[in-house]
Amino acid sequence: MHKSVKDILEKRQSGTKISVITAYDYTMASLCDKAGIDILLVGDSAGMVMLGYESTVPVTMDQMVLFTEAVSRARQNALIVSDLPFMSYQASISDAIANSGKLVKAGADAVKLEGGKAMSGTIKAIVETGIPVMGHIGFQPQTTTLAQGYKVQGRTKDAAVRLIEDAKALEEAGVFSIALEMVTDEVSKIISETISVPTIGIGSGKYCDGQVLVVHDILGMYDKLKPKFVKQYLSLSDQITKAVSNYRTDVESGKFPAEENWFSMDKSELEKLRKEIGK
Ligand code: KIV
Repeated sequence: MHKSVKDILEKRQSGTKISVITAYDYTMASLCDKAGIDILLVGDSAGMVMLGYESTVPVTMDQMVLFTEAVSRARQNALIVSDLPFMSYQASISDAIANSGKLVKAGADAVKLEGGKAMSGTIKAIVETGIPVMGHIGFQPQTTTLAQGYKVQGRTKDAAVRLIEDAKALEEAGVFSIALEMVTDEVSKIISETISVPTIGIGSGKYCDGQVLVVHDILGMYDKLKPKFVKQYLSLSDQITKAVSNYRTDVESGKFPAEENWFSMDKSELEKLRKEIGK
């Protein structure tokens, strides 16, 4: 049986940090799940790392459904949270509920959406339909990139107060956890100590109840952005390019395929064939 929201809440109660990683496809999700990760986040960052968009803004519901289905076929253990993409929940509460339902039918256990106080009515309505929601405040890629570009959140007293109020409003609306993106260490600490649901940080310091990173970043597979908060555990880009280049030179030189890579006919069948075709 895979993890439930209750398991995530209990993990926080036990004082053990919650591990979250993004996943968008079957193979990577299988590997991350096998590694014992608590939550597989089908993030809309898929738009950038899987589809090559400049931001998460162009991502569609159909794409998120496809990624969620692939991840859910792989999952054995983790909880799956899927992102509601830009404009799938902002225009109306009925859009938000219908699109959350589509992600759940695709295999998600919960959905995530960006926004503070202004989104609390929408979150409450989704939660009331029985779908768990993860909030997302601080840097909000779907809208902040349009307005201000990448920027750390909560550096001033006023900005900090707004973030704390947003976190409280989301808690009241019924979220089961809140992602804090690029929020200063001090403000993350206050929020994590103030609210009763787990905080999941990305670039938000050590006081969060859990951490999330984009899987391509930890594996060194996406070179366009290298945020300071990422810890890179592998340099797969270099290794993959080198391996594919070795394959190319083997093909060009005839070194590949070798005998162990091909299939042969039965000798007597070959003899019969030769006779029949006169060779
Ligand atoms: O889409 C995503 O990867 C996310 C994380 C950055 C939290 O929302």
